[in-house]
Amino acid sequence: MKKIILTGDRPSGALHIGHYVGSLQNRVALQHEYQQYIIIADVQALSANAENPERVRYNVLQVMLDYLAVGIDPQVSTIFIQSLIPEIAELTMFFVNLVTLARLQRNPTVKEEIRQKGFGESIPTGFLMHPISQAADITFIKADVVPVGEDQLPLIEQCCEIVRSFNRIYAPVFHEPKALLPEAGARRLMGLDGKAKMSKSLGNAILLSDSAEEISKKVMSMYTDPKHLHVADPGSVEGNVVFMYLDIFDPNKDEVAELKAHYQRGGLGDVTIKKRLNGILQDLIGPMRLRREEFAKDPATVMQLLQQGTLKTREAAAKKMAEVRKAMHIDYFG
Ligand code: TRP
Repeated sequence: MKKIILTGDRPSGALHIGHYVGSLQNRVALQHEYQQYIIIADVQALSANAENPERVRYNVLQVMLDYLAVGIDPQVSTIFIQSLIPEIAELTMFFVNLVTLARLQRNPTVKEEIRQKGFGESIPTGFLMHPISQAADITFIKADVVPVGEDQLPLIEQCCEIVRSFNRIYAPVFHEPKALLPEAGARRLMGLDGKAKMSKSLGNAILLSDSAEEISKKVMSMYTDPKHLHVADPGSVEGNVVFMYLDIFDPNKDEVAELKAHYQRGGLGDVTIKKRLNGILQDLIGPMRLRREEFAKDPATVMQLLQQGTLKTREAAAKKMAEVRKAMHIDYFG
């Protein structure tokens, strides 16, 4: 039996190359090795967008298009919509009793997101509950492995705590999932400005759906070394976004090492390295854009693929839920 992977995204915007190196690339590679489930977490997205349901709905399709564009095969990986799996909502409701409010408020991932979103005292309850609903996302299918970015590790840790509590109180129904981190270099892709992690809302991202012109423009605007004013000047590669990206995306490591040495010595201009990076990114994203455009012509078929994955997931979920009800002594009618 293949091990089960559970991974996914919140449909709050189109995905970018940070998502690609941090997780999408892994999903394409791992889909044959594992039985992979991919959750489009619309309930989670609604927790910060309760008043914009149409935005969440639009992004469900966008995220699905991004998945298809990068080469996730919906016949191999099971892609599903969170809100259409009632078992996830049920499990969340059972898990809330196993977690204190204080523990939720201490979760570093949630704390950081609450700070970023500027909720102040007005935190939506559903937002605070992310660690619990995410534990339900992972356990309802009994996932063995959860590929996540480093920022999500506290959520996996809390999921394991919930599993231990549940198993101790009721019966050993669940197992603790293992987090799978992306390779070192890919863990946190800097934004174009070199200031923060890449994010669409910060406007420092290259989207998988960007046009060729948009990509060139963004690469040419990338942060390099502000002290490197003339080509002849020695430049710094530390904190230089172009070199950080070359380290990740350029397959020719020897040439990158030579370019770095040349840049540090002086005599290598920013435009030269940016052109090189632009070529590499165009080659990577170009075929994705074509596939995306092809699927985008027929959204009904794309939604049908999503429906198939969701129905398949529901069947698996119903079976596992029976065990939970039995363990909790709430299987009243057998
Ligand atoms: N929290 C993830 C994000 O912000 C999305 C997500 C929801 C998820 N449920 C999950 C990821 C379960 C992995 C496993 O993108």
